[in-house]
Amino acid sequence: MTESIRFLMCSPDHYDVDYVINPWMEGNIHKSSFDKAREQWQNLYHLIKDHAIVDLVTPAKGWPDMVFTANAGLVLDKTVVLSRFYHKERQGEEPYFKTWFESQGFTVHELPKDLPFEGAGDALFDREGRYLWAGYGFRSELDSHPLIAEWLDIEVLSLRLMDERFYHLDTCFCPLKGGYLMYYPPAFDSYSNRLIEMRIPPEKRIIVEEPDAINFACNTVNINQMVIMNKASENLKARIEEAGFTVLETSLTEFLKAGGAAKCLTLRVTEPVIVDRHAVVKVESHTVLMEGHLLDAGLINRALDLVVEGGGSFKVLNFNLGEQRQSTSKAEIKISAPSHEVMEEIISQLIDIGVVSLEDDQRDARLQPVEQDGVGPDDFYVSTIYPTEVRVDGQWLTVQHQRMDGAIAISETPNGLVAQCKILRDLKVGERVVVDVVGLRTIRKTESREARNAPQEFSFMSAGVSSERRVELIVEQVAWELRQIRDRGGKVVVTAGPVVIHTGGAQHLSHLIREGYVQALLGGNAIAVHDMEQSIMGTSLGVDMKQGIAVKGGHRHHLKVINSVRRYGSIATAVENGLVKSGVMYECVKNNIPFSLAGSIRDDGPLPDTQMDLIKAQEDYAELLQGADMILMLSSMLHSIGVGNMTPSGVKMVCVDINPAVVTKLSDRGSVESIGVVTDVGLFLSLLVNQLDKLTSRYGVVQVG
Ligand code: ARG
Repeated sequence: MTESIRFLMCSPDHYDVDYVINPWMEGNIHKSSFDKAREQWQNLYHLIKDHAIVDLVTPAKGWPDMVFTANAGLVLDKTVVLSRFYHKERQGEEPYFKTWFESQGFTVHELPKDLPFEGAGDALFDREGRYLWAGYGFRSELDSHPLIAEWLDIEVLSLRLMDERFYHLDTCFCPLKGGYLMYYPPAFDSYSNRLIEMRIPPEKRIIVEEPDAINFACNTVNINQMVIMNKASENLKARIEEAGFTVLETSLTEFLKAGGAAKCLTLRVTEPVIVDRHAVVKVESHTVLMEGHLLDAGLINRALDLVVEGGGSFKVLNFNLGEQRQSTSKAEIKISAPSHEVMEEIISQLIDIGVVSLEDDQRDARLQPVEQDGVGPDDFYVSTIYPTEVRVDGQWLTVQHQRMDGAIAISETPNGLVAQCKILRDLKVGERVVVDVVGLRTIRKTESREARNAPQEFSFMSAGVSSERRVELIVEQVAWELRQIRDRGGKVVVTAGPVVIHTGGAQHLSHLIREGYVQALLGGNAIAVHDMEQSIMGTSLGVDMKQGIAVKGGHRHHLKVINSVRRYGSIATAVENGLVKSGVMYECVKNNIPFSLAGSIRDDGPLPDTQMDLIKAQEDYAELLQGADMILMLSSMLHSIGVGNMTPSGVKMVCVDINPAVVTKLSDRGSVESIGVVTDVGLFLSLLVNQLDKLTSRYGVVQVG
């Protein structure tokens, strides 16, 4: 027996599965056998007693999980951080454990009331005493980690748990003597896995596979060269033995029903103490402010979800609820993240949804010089579609040419400092680029409450993907908007793919152009080719557009069209010379509607107008998009997504595609002004033209019907 090693256990007199607070307990209420549990516990008790001293705490009636003493608290030397249970079902255990610790002369630290932490179940010392691994995500709160570091004067490494079956760190993670670590990597997020890999060299990692993990193999008691666990596969046993340990298996099936095994049933109260240790915490906190229709517009949920999904944690410090329908709410939220890196990621996403960082009112943005034309600094801030301001030398600059996925470049001009959104390739030596996420804010209009509450199909203010039955309602809304934009001399840009032609939409799109609803057309080689093929030969990719059947030899039609247009030197000349007598391209030429056709690797021909220099094509697109009020994206994934990235917020986007993935992808860019319609594009266009005709009477009087 090793005199200096002590454990705390609690006899299972009142043990049972009485409630469900983890997935293991589900379906197991009152299903564990009292006698079997007692016997299994006794076996474990004796095994441990052979090698260490075991102290006992008196079990309390009504607290069935008290057997799991790992959750009593976290002990180091003569100090203990008492557990604050997450679930009320276990909170009643706290005073019993507290009394025991005090009776043994420990200094007991208690966490604030709303800061859960479940003791050694969620915090495991490196067995060499160098640092503490602490879990969060289910039972323990990240914000408890800095306090633990301070009280125990130790470095704390925070690990985020992702799989609810492994809700406590000790269910999937087990540091062993000699610097070994036995663990189940999928239970953690990728950041945590990286942290583990940085600290534990590969030869010291014992990776546990799922079948062993769900037998609680990681829930192991390690006493010197011995490991005690419920069960391990031959393969795992061999690997543990190779690392120099003896494996002792003892069945604990009755406790598995409550979600615990060997390690959970014990609390080591003598931990190796390293004398020259000191507190280190990487956990960072940051206070942010949100304002707007936080509840009605669902903003607060989105923000808090982003924090948690990003690996952080939050505390709402203040919530000022707007009382009237029109009044806005205000919230002050403290965000915590396990590291600066994770914090940066979270904050940049929060900035996207208009959250203001409070500290940033006082801080300038961090800038780094461009050292090579066309290349930004490593950590450059990636821009969004939202109007952004950046603080330089104490003054807030409005960023010009806002777009997504750019960098923010600061340059000195005779008129002072200028901030501009630039794509990487346009960065120039001499400019400075914003890195990190401090000193930045995005300006968001307060989303109107009414718009939020209106039926979604009438509202551009809600990013949503429609279902079939909503199509007609959306068409009504789009028609109304098109009409308004045309009448006030606004600008509508259409991006379109060849599907528009294949689905019979050419005549409708032509109609829209002719009637003045379209101010620019963006596409690729294909839409123009198939449109002219239909106009010249009556087929689209060789399919007869009237009868819907393939024409013999029709697959060559489009090449012949390309060839003819090439002979004329441009689409415009081909139109002027009567080769093309109708269709989308015809209307563009006749009505002086500018178009840009961006080339691609698969283009046949291409047409003389197709821009095969992609950088040039992107520039042409960007120019035609300037000042757009609305963009109609018709069944062209590449062009639509490209356009989406170039467009600042505030421009209404309607994306029509039969493929929901394309539609979702565009709504996902976070713009509340974008709306997705999953439907056949030809059908959509015909409904749209119909609706517009209804709206346009001879006297210009609007008949809403
Ligand atoms: N039923 C208990 C709970 O869900 C089991 C605790 C297991 N303890 C542990 N350290 N993993 O809290």
